[in-house]
Amino acid sequence: MSLSISIEDCFEDIIAKSMRGRHISESELVDKTGVSRDILHRLCRGEFCDEPALLMVAKALQLDPQALTMSASKVWRPRAVTMEGVEIFNTPYRDMRVNAFLIWDPASMKGAAFDTGTDSSLLSDRAKELGISVESIFLTHTHNDHIADLDRLKSTCEEVSLFSNELEPWPGTETFSEDAQFSIGDLLVKTYTTSGHSVGGTTYFIEGLERPIAVVGDAMFAGSMGGGMVSFSDAWKNNREKILTLPDETILCPGHGPMTSVGEEKRNNPFFAAEFR
Ligand SMILES: [Fe+2]
Repeated sequence: MSLSISIEDCFEDIIAKSMRGRHISESELVDKTGVSRDILHRLCRGEFCDEPALLMVAKALQLDPQALTMSASKVWRPRAVTMEGVEIFNTPYRDMRVNAFLIWDPASMKGAAFDTGTDSSLLSDRAKELGISVESIFLTHTHNDHIADLDRLKSTCEEVSLFSNELEPWPGTETFSEDAQFSIGDLLVKTYTTSGHSVGGTTYFIEGLERPIAVVGDAMFAGSMGGGMVSFSDAWKNNREKILTLPDETILCPGHGPMTSVGEEKRNNPFFAAEFR
């Protein structure tokens, strides 16, 4: 399924998120860059019409020029991820799509769901097919698209514990604080609070499979990041300090768009690549 999932944000979305997050208006961007208003409008509409202008805009918005150009050229997407122990479920929500993940320990066949998406039957049917008992449901955050099918998912599990961050508690769940630890069979799960997109956004770092995994919710996307609806600066800082410091081979499981990895995001994500060049 991961092969068919589109990149979540185009370069115009990245420009818009950065303008909002850094409180830079269109007029200020025109003044800062010397790019004409007409060219800026076209870039903001997703028309890759003027590469030198895009480079100026990138610089003014503290985006990596090379990575933003790659995004505008649509030449990059992360390598497909196939690893026993993790599967992605991508379901429609209004005019977009949202991900949920099933992660399990192949030795014990104990598993956990991360978010529900809008139709959790795909995930629960797959767990049943593979003989995985889903013992926990972890919420990355409580925006409706991520928890839309929580009641149904819960009802399909025999005995299941639900968890949410204490900064963003959800009724019927047990809450945890940062640095909590859980297990999924022999897999170890550690929690990091990666707030900024939401008040208690959580990244779950899971070790014990062939590669480590970080389920990041809407903190980061392949080639972008979630909107900093609560605080763009917190979102950026948490992504930089708590996600991009994980080992390069760590598989990133975002709430929207395809799976990616820490190493690929350090090289290709316009919000962060300049930090690692
Ligand atoms: Fe969200």
